[in-house]
Amino acid sequence: MNPDEPCPDCAAAEDLPRRRFLERLSIAAGAIGALLVAVPSIGFLLGLRRPTKVWRAVGNVGDFRVGSTTKVAFQDPSPLPWAGVTANTAAWLRRSSETEFIAFSVDCTHLGCPVRWLPGANLFMCPCHGGVFYADGTVASGPPPRPLTRYPVRVMNGQVEIFTSPLPIT
Ligand code: FES
Repeated sequence: MNPDEPCPDCAAAEDLPRRRFLERLSIAAGAIGALLVAVPSIGFLLGLRRPTKVWRAVGNVGDFRVGSTTKVAFQDPSPLPWAGVTANTAAWLRRSSETEFIAFSVDCTHLGCPVRWLPGANLFMCPCHGGVFYADGTVASGPPPRPLTRYPVRVMNGQVEIFTSPLPIT
């Protein structure tokens, strides 16, 4: 063999460590990606990150007139650290008597759009697909399969509190 001629086997031999390095890098990147997906999924399946249920204060008793239905905002029961504004949610709070409150989730039971309270019509309306709910939260018309979800409400130290929890959405 002429020493001035290029050696095809030699070039392949020099390329081998680089190829092995790239193969191992690809395998490592794939494994890291799989772990990033698998760890939270397995944690969810094993119930390691159970959603919590907590009481959230939404205002003073005196803020709500008897007979009124008011939108109140509060934080999701189990916000993720990176949730930002998406951790904020709301409910429609009705003061039905001096001592009694009812809280309805704003989330439509069809696909979760926020419903609006129309005091003139005495109805909750969903803007997405025309779902309508009576004042007691039961379905009046449209696609929602269930009444609006209600939250337990209590009064503690002059504050109205809502027992927030994850909501079932169809
Ligand atoms: S999300 Fe409310 S009717 Fe569809």
